[in-house]
Amino acid sequence: PLPVILDGDPGLDDAVAWLLAFASPEVQVQGVTAVHGNVPLRRGVRNTGVVLALAGERAQGVPYFAGADRPLLREELTATQIHGETGLPAEGLPEPVRPPEAGHAVDFLIRTLRASPGQVTLVASGPLTNVALAFRLAPDLPQQVREVVWMGGSTGPGNRTPAAEFNALADPHAADIVFRSGAPLRMVGLNVTMQCIATPERLEQLRSLGNRAGAVSAQMLEFYAGVYRERYGLSGGALHDPLAVAAALRPELLTWRPMPVAVELNGGLNLGRTVCDLYGVTGQAPNAQVAVDVDAPAFFDLLLERLGTLP
Ligand code: BDR
Ligand code: CA
Repeated sequence: PLPVILDGDPGLDDAVAWLLAFASPEVQVQGVTAVHGNVPLRRGVRNTGVVLALAGERAQGVPYFAGADRPLLREELTATQIHGETGLPAEGLPEPVRPPEAGHAVDFLIRTLRASPGQVTLVASGPLTNVALAFRLAPDLPQQVREVVWMGGSTGPGNRTPAAEFNALADPHAADIVFRSGAPLRMVGLNVTMQCIATPERLEQLRSLGNRAGAVSAQMLEFYAGVYRERYGLSGGALHDPLAVAAALRPELLTWRPMPVAVELNGGLNLGRTVCDLYGVTGQAPNAQVAVDVDAPAFFDLLLERLGTLP
């Protein structure tokens, strides 16, 4: 199986994404690193322990770490209005599996990626602060990682501002460091994730799985659907982060195009925008494989099948 590290800010869609990873035999999770984002770091670390508990024996012995508690330069930005105050809006959740490991997430990233050069895929589903710090502390790291698969950015409009997607806006400087790093990079942005909607029918299928992972995921996505209905007029929440995990498992579920991507760092209306050169007008070399289309029904089938194998 493909060794992966999961880095994110759980957050309800991060939680579903990580359950998908633990349930998938194609990958072996080496560790999980939490970063500030949807909820303050302290809460995100606790939530990480809860997700590991939900994954049952699939997560046995998988270490988890606390990472950066704030963006590199800008002030902290959370998204509790989307994910609820706790980040995991569900009842009957287990306690965290065990406390996090001692030591910083960034040290874990550096040591794990260096231990297996070219082997480990990093699936990042939050602001890129941990990844950027690791790349700065260990400048060889972009050459050691097999690939960074990031849920973030957009080829088109944003969701936190008209121009910027949340993960990009929550630490644009970190995203800039990662996009300029030379690391092999796949961007799974809003332009594809907004096509993967957890409709009422899909939630019903999740519930009918009859296991705890399905029930908890359905409950959280139900809460999320309320927010999406109100904000975007959609019939359910978008499965952003689970699509990034699916992209690591099954890249063929998406259509990819190599292109230059730059992150807007100047303040103002476009702060955090991922400027994607779809038509090659800059003449620059591509620095990312950008997802431009997705087979949403096939993705949802995969999610359903895999979550069904958990406790
Ligand atoms: C991203 O922002 C967060 O709120 C979600 O967890 C996802 O990673 C979508 O813009
Ligand atoms: Ca996230």
